[in-house]
Amino acid sequence: MKREYLFAPGPTQLPEEILRILSEPIVYHRGPKFKAILQEARADLKVLFQTEQDVLVLTSSGTGAMEAAVTHTLSRGDRALVIEGGKFGERWGEICQAYGVDVEWLRVPWGKAVDPADVRKALTNGSDIRAVFVQASETSTGVKQPVHEIAEITRRLPDTLLAVDGITAVGVFPVPMDAWGIDVMVSGSQKAMMLPPGLGFIAMGPRAWARAERSDLPKFYFNLRKERELQPKGETNFTPAVPFIVALRRALQMIREEGLEQVFARHERLAKATREGMRALGLELFAPESPSNACTAVKVPAGVDGEKIPKHIRETYGVTIAGGQSKLKGKIFRIAHLGYYNPFDMVMVMSAVEMTLRDLGYPAQIGAGVRKVQEILAG
Ligand SMILES: Cc1ncc(COP(=O)(O)O)c(C=O)c1O
Repeated sequence: MKREYLFAPGPTQLPEEILRILSEPIVYHRGPKFKAILQEARADLKVLFQTEQDVLVLTSSGTGAMEAAVTHTLSRGDRALVIEGGKFGERWGEICQAYGVDVEWLRVPWGKAVDPADVRKALTNGSDIRAVFVQASETSTGVKQPVHEIAEITRRLPDTLLAVDGITAVGVFPVPMDAWGIDVMVSGSQKAMMLPPGLGFIAMGPRAWARAERSDLPKFYFNLRKERELQPKGETNFTPAVPFIVALRRALQMIREEGLEQVFARHERLAKATREGMRALGLELFAPESPSNACTAVKVPAGVDGEKIPKHIRETYGVTIAGGQSKLKGKIFRIAHLGYYNPFDMVMVMSAVEMTLRDLGYPAQIGAGVRKVQEILAG
């Protein structure tokens, strides 16, 4: 008998209750039942995003929300500063370039967080940068970026917006949009929201909405001004992913019932236990200085074929983890702990990592990581 366990940093595990809701009969998206569901979800989304602004629900993956952020805040030929410390930083820049935005790359070694002083330098005197794009949590490297410090800089610049990719940060650790003065925040359903992939989310502050009034980049499917007009009435511009929105309402209630602060604290504990467990196995973390609580990136130890780790752990133990992407292929592996995870999940995945590394020739002391995880998560 083989069971499957999912520890990829998206899509993440789904609660049983969400799976049940997803099998319910479809609701008509122009009827009163759907309107009520969307309204309820919208109220809870504000709590999750820590904002008073509308959080718009888009039927797309997270990248769709990123694209909408670009097309509504910039105009042709505008200049943007893109903080690139991983694959998703690259994506911000690629979207900008696809729309004819002039990109200034602030490249950061993968595994490190950007130095806010470098952001300040890029934005000083005479800079014509109209927006800064960054990941709160760069999932490809397991790094948490210093969004608060960056927002302290951008919020004082009258014509420079800050757009944050919170796809693996919203619901994982605090990124209070309003309190920090973040102009745009995006997220996606398949991470901490405990849902399948298929919904993107975007919230914009007053400065970003003012930009949206005059932005001349092409827009059709993602027309946020239209969505902003319709969604407060419980409607959407096109046919939305109805079952996911029904499930979203319940997932957000679950987060509200646990309490956002408790949700953050749970992620913190699981992340810490995972990091310390890996260290107890003698492994090195890829992002030790500024780790994200969404997923832990671990360096492949010398003598082990890194590309074999995700394959072996999946095929032998039924556990899905992620390897490294693009230039990190074979160099790291990543364990997710965002969304529907509890202490025993982390004990389980740690034991599977130990067995896998031992199978692949690393002299792991079986039980050393598990023991550390238990010590941290007990009581
Ligand atoms: C930080 C970050 N940004 C963007 C994305 C892209 O989201 P999607 O694959 O939902 O389009 C991901 C997905 O893994 C992510 O983790």
